[in-house]
Amino acid sequence: MTRVLACCAMTLALATASVLSSSGSQAEAQSPLRSPDVPFIPTPPEVVVAMLSGAKVGPGDVVYDLGSGDGRIAIAAVRDFHAARATGIDIDPRRVSEAREIATVLGVADKVRFLNQDLFTTDIGDATVVTLYLLQSLNIKLVPKLRSLKPGTRIASHSFDMGSVWAPEQKLIVNGQKVYFWTVPGH
Ligand SMILES: C[S@@+](CC[C@H](N)C(=O)[O-])C[C@H]1O[C@@H](n2cnc3c(N)ncnc32)[C@H](O)[C@@H]1O
Repeated sequence: MTRVLACCAMTLALATASVLSSSGSQAEAQSPLRSPDVPFIPTPPEVVVAMLSGAKVGPGDVVYDLGSGDGRIAIAAVRDFHAARATGIDIDPRRVSEAREIATVLGVADKVRFLNQDLFTTDIGDATVVTLYLLQSLNIKLVPKLRSLKPGTRIASHSFDMGSVWAPEQKLIVNGQKVYFWTVPGH
């Protein structure tokens, strides 16, 4: 766990620095499809590791991060947890460009894709794991979409639960930050 965390934090920091120094001005020329429902606030590396290990991500998994920011969760899913593939979805094209470049620098662009789309409309039907760092109100809005996924699909959410709409089956606290987990039941 410590090795995965150190590896995840250091490589992402180096890759981000390299991408930001080389491509900032091009990314700034783009603007979002519409205003993001929440701003970009990155999940700390130790929480990324807790989300992916708590969701038991492994070689058979297809991971989606809804609102993917700089791509750290989707990239770590493939690079550090050996998921088969991962998709990050972000409404802000600057985040998507940045994430794609980081994935390229880290050598995982063949297994990680980033889509500039609204997470409420993207088809995530092949997911086996979904990760979230949004808001409780957005998680609740996503419940019908999430509950329609394949039975057994795991969901991990940083900071926010789904209120009384869907109780989590597990809750962790990692360096003071909450992580919640659900599994899609049989239909
Ligand atoms: C709190 S950040 C989380 C970033 C990343 N998942 C992480 O944990 O480090 C939320 C991200 O969601 C994106 N976002 C907000 N509303 C969205 C929407 N409707 N569709 C897709 N992305 C959205 C924002 O641009 C931002 O990058």
